[in-house]
Amino acid sequence: MTINESEYIGSFPRHQLCPKEMYPEYAFIGRSNVGKSSLINMLCDRKELARTSKKPGKTQMINYYLINQEWGIVDLPGYGYAKISKKMRLQWREMIEQYLLKREQLQCAFVLIDANVPPQNNDIEFINWLGKMGVPFLLIYTKIDRLKPIQLPENIQKIENALLAHWEELPQQFYTSSNEKKGRAEILDFLESINEDFWSKA
Ligand code: GTP
Ligand code: MG
Repeated sequence: MTINESEYIGSFPRHQLCPKEMYPEYAFIGRSNVGKSSLINMLCDRKELARTSKKPGKTQMINYYLINQEWGIVDLPGYGYAKISKKMRLQWREMIEQYLLKREQLQCAFVLIDANVPPQNNDIEFINWLGKMGVPFLLIYTKIDRLKPIQLPENIQKIENALLAHWEELPQQFYTSSNEKKGRAEILDFLESINEDFWSKA
């Protein structure tokens, strides 16, 4: 799929305020600083469509982008960001969970996992929650450029083992580097096939 047009539509504090059009939509979610906004920019081939930051906690609302005027990308706030009040963290959680459970347009969520760090409890807990609630999801490993080729399979194996302690099988996985534009074609091909499915049933 070629992305000809990508447009920031707005940032919304609740899913009820998101665009009402029935465009197929994909959410990007993961721990704070995992590289969600960078990945969205890489996919859309835009430098600053989604705002990125070295400081975690940049993305705080449901950010909606319309692509090729027919499908949507949603950049969600990262979970596990420690430097905010407990009240705020609960509000974020509620916003994310309600979005994932209630948003009719959502086709699937992409859970981003940093390929450089050992398995993280909050990633596993979040993935288990998605599974329990029946939210379809896929995995995207990020920042693979930071690893030596020999380290990558070792790290992935550890993360997979941690997940397989809870799951019999794992969803489809993508390996990406936003810095080196790796994984772009694979993700866009996948999105294209889901979009085609969606429109053929519409
Ligand atoms: P929040 O919005 O705060 O939750 O963060 P985020 O998940 O949107 O992360 P963001 O895209 O802002 O990236 C966080 C940091 O990681 C930035 O300093 C990016 O430059 C860096 N980063 C993102 N993707 C990559 C990558 O593929 N490789 C490397 N080396 N660094 C990356
Ligand atoms: Mg972000």
